[in-house]
Parts: sequence; structure tokens; C-alpha cells
Amino acid sequence: MTQTTRHGAWHRVQAHADAFKSHRIRDLFAADERRAERMQVRSGPVLLDYSKNRIDHDGLEALFSLADAMGLRTAIDAMFAGESINSTEQRPALHAALRMPRDAVLEVGGRNVVDDVHAVLSRVRRFADQVRDGQWLGRTGEAITDVVNIGIGGSDLGPRMVCDALSAHAHPRLRTHFVANVDGTLITGLLRHLDPNTTLFVIASKSFGTQETLVNANTARQWFLDQGASEADIAKHFVAVSTNAEKVAAFGIDTDNMFGFWDWVGGRYSLWSAIGLPVMLSVGPDVFDELLAGAHQMDHHFRTAPWQENLPVLLALIGVWYINGMGANTQLVSPYDHGLRQLPAFLQQLDMESNGKSVTRDGKPVERHTGPVVWGYSGINGQHAFYQLLHQGTELIPADFIVSVRNRLSPDAHHKVILSNCIAQAQALMQGRSTEQAVAEMREAGVSEARIRELAPHRTFAGNRPTNMVLLDELTPRSLGALIAMYEHKVFTQGVLWQVNSFDQWGVELGKQLAKRIEAAYDEGGYPDDADASTRALIDLTREGLRAS
Ligand code: F6P
Repeated sequence: MTQTTRHGAWHRVQAHADAFKSHRIRDLFAADERRAERMQVRSGPVLLDYSKNRIDHDGLEALFSLADAMGLRTAIDAMFAGESINSTEQRPALHAALRMPRDAVLEVGGRNVVDDVHAVLSRVRRFADQVRDGQWLGRTGEAITDVVNIGIGGSDLGPRMVCDALSAHAHPRLRTHFVANVDGTLITGLLRHLDPNTTLFVIASKSFGTQETLVNANTARQWFLDQGASEADIAKHFVAVSTNAEKVAAFGIDTDNMFGFWDWVGGRYSLWSAIGLPVMLSVGPDVFDELLAGAHQMDHHFRTAPWQENLPVLLALIGVWYINGMGANTQLVSPYDHGLRQLPAFLQQLDMESNGKSVTRDGKPVERHTGPVVWGYSGINGQHAFYQLLHQGTELIPADFIVSVRNRLSPDAHHKVILSNCIAQAQALMQGRSTEQAVAEMREAGVSEARIRELAPHRTFAGNRPTNMVLLDELTPRSLGALIAMYEHKVFTQGVLWQVNSFDQWGVELGKQLAKRIEAAYDEGGYPDDADASTRALIDLTREGLRAS
């Protein structure tokens, strides 16, 4: 597609969005009695209802043309074919290969990567089975009771979120803990409650060079040795998940106890790889397989469904409609499910590290806003915290609500409250309440006319606030896999539309470099050469704290 075609497609989207800014969603429902039914699409256990959006058929058509003009089809094919789409790091982005069935073939550089994937999966599975069955014994011959995953970012958020979401399947003997923050109060507080003889540490780091993880891992190892264990005992209590065998060995973990993956798995896309080890330890290999199968089914859907029925593509296009067409800056994710309470944090990394870019793949400044600020929390809790701003604030905040139709773990009396609130919030955000309605309600309640005049503006809701409703049949390993993969592909699609590389993260580097120099200044005195006056002053103000400790 030529530059002119692409500009034309963006222009058409912008023109439709401009024309639509003042349209009311509830009028769209009034004008089309089949709107709800026409704007529901399903892929396996996931249903998306996108009818409560400020968009109509023409707007959607403009977005579909944009997807075509920006080469989405070719980009999807290139990703699944293992082309080097992560151009700045010169590698493919092949997380989809991690969930391909054993008999699939995907050749990259003359190798069938699916064979490699399943070889590692089999090793991880064997190890998980041994630990779960009580055959893997600690230094005193006891079975493992506690698994501590030490990792950060992609080596933490995905497995942590999945372990939480699937806690109903957790092994009764195994407690799983996650240590990401390098603030030592976390690990030292945890270690106080652990028995070194029955604890297994999983040191998870793609690079095995991440400072926070290595500092925590060293503290864990020292604690283990301080409890009377020997260096030889480390092999029974420390395993590593990494792509960097050399650094794993240098840390002191036998590479026989290392589970590898590949540079073509981005950290934030790695939960499907050996990084999922804590998940497999907790819920078992069969449940993990289901998670992979759900994601694989969504991969197939994303590759093959027309844009009109394609869940990740619809979510991405609707997001672009608000971000670029209507000036939205943020995207709320509200899971109405306690098990999914970590999902917003996971999606923050997935989305913001992938699309928080201001240059295109070929290094030119982007022409329009890219990744939104993604935020959220468990929906029902959010209602009592930040929903006020959703209903009556001045920002346009597109929201995804996620809820399960069935929740066997929650009694009906509870689940009914979850479902009715989730649905009601979407309805309230869309319908709002006019001043006339507010006045009528107050009159009916016998409020005085003077008080009505005073309160009416405060009790008016503008409405017209958009939501997507994502309904899972039930929160199962399979639906969770599909849900996560849906968001991965949404993020990828938006990256294609914005022409950014969604698979690198150069923006995390500078702060890390400067932190090293400041750390050296704490040790050696003085300041880093490039420190400004504020940075120098802050170093002086905080030196004291380190000396005191
Ligand atoms: O600093 C950001 C980051 O590189 C993420 O992309 C990554 O998920 C995280 O750090 C952890 O990296 P690693 O797994 O290499 O320790």
C-alpha cells in the first residue's frame, strides 16, 4: 500500500470519528433493534459484545479499510511464518509457536522450532511431575512444599497472574510465592516463613542479567547456605529458567537444572514457555496444556477470521478509534473476577512495553498517538474507588469489562452480585441519567423543590461512555489461555496500525544504566559525571539512609 492510500485510510477513520463524537450510543440502539446481536462475536469460550461503543457500521468499515491499508493481513502472516518482524533486535516474535501442537511444523532458519518447544515442554513437565508427586526431594529427603519464583516483568507477571487465576487447580501441598520487587522487605519477610529443606527457588530471567532478580536470587542463596545447607545442596533447591546458560552457570546453578527458551520469545510473551514453570508446578502439566490449547485456538482465530468477526482485531480497531479518533489517552481493564485481579498489571506490561513507542519501525517519528496508558483493577472493587470518574469525570475512558457467565467456585448469591453489577455498570455508563430523569426521581422521593434544584446537576450522568464486554463461559485454563492470547494479538494489531515494533523495549535501558552509575556513586562517593543538580542533591539526601542501615 502506498503512503497516500494509508493516509487516505487514516483520514477516513478520523472523518468518521469526528462526525461521531456527538452521537449517542443509546440512539444507535434505538435506530437498530438488531445492534446488540450484530455486535456480538465469539471465539471458542470467549464472547465479545462491542455494541456499547460510539461507533456504527460505516465507522467499522473505515477501520477495516485502515487494517487493510496498513497491511495487517501481511503482518499477521509474517508473524506466524516466523519472519524477523522484531526488526531492531533482528528476530522473529514467535510466542504463537509455544502453543502449537506437537505435530505442527514451523521452520525458522531450517529448524522446526515446534520440536524444540516440545522438547523443553517435556523436560518441564517431567520436572513438575516429580516435584508434584513428591519424588523430587530436598536436601533432607523431604518433598517440596513451597515454590518461590524470583523474577520480574515478563518473568513474573504472567505466571503470577495465571497461578492466581487457576488457583482452584493448585496442588494441595505446594504453596507458590512470587518475588519481583528488590525491596528486601519482601524476600526477607517471606524467607522467615519458609523451611529451607522443603523450598524450591525458581530463578526466572530471560537474560539472567536483571539486577533486581539477581540481587533477590543471591539473598535467597545466601539464606539457604546460612541455614546449614552446602553448595552441593543448591542443585536440589534452585532451578533456573533462562535463555542464558553461561550466566546461569556463573550464578552457580547447574545447567542440568535449567529450563531454556529462545530469544524469539519476548519477556512479556513468555508465560507459555518454561517461564510458566511455577504455573506447571502449581496446577500441573495437564492444566498447563489446556492453557496452551486455549491460546492456540485464539491464534487460529486471529489468523483466519475475517476482520468483522476477529476478536483481537475488533478490540484493536475500536481502541484506535478512541485513541486516535476521539483523543482517549487511557484504556481501563476491569475484570469482574477475583481470579483475574492481576490481569490489569499483566496487560500494562504487555501493552505499554509493546506499543509505548514514538518512532516507527524504520525510525521515523510516529504520526499519531500510540499506546494508551493501560490501567485497572478488579471491577467490583473499582466501583467503590475510581468509577466515580468514569461516570462523571471529564475524560473519555474506554473500558473493557471481563466477566464469567458461570463461576462454580462462587456461590450464586455472590456471583449474581458480580454479574448484575458488571452489566449494570456498562448500562449506566452508556445510558447515563438526564437531568429530567434525576429531577423526576427526586420528586417521586418527595425531595423539596429547592433541594432538587441544588442537586440536579450533581445527580445527572452524561452517559455515552463506551465499554466492551468480554464474557467467558467460565474461567478455565482454556478460556484464560484464549483471553490472554486475544490481548496479545490486540496489542500486535495496534502496533501494526501505528507502524511501531511491538516486540522491542529500548525505553527500559536508560534508567537501568543511570541507576548503575548512581549505585557506584553511593559506594565510591561523589556523583555520576552526568548528574544534574537535582540528581546530586537527591544522592546526598539519601546517602545517609544507606550509611544508617
Ligand atoms: O526491563 C524490562 C524487561 O527487560 C522486560 O522486558 C522483561 O520482561 C523484564 O525486564 C525481565 O527481564 P528478564 O526476564 O531478562 O530478567
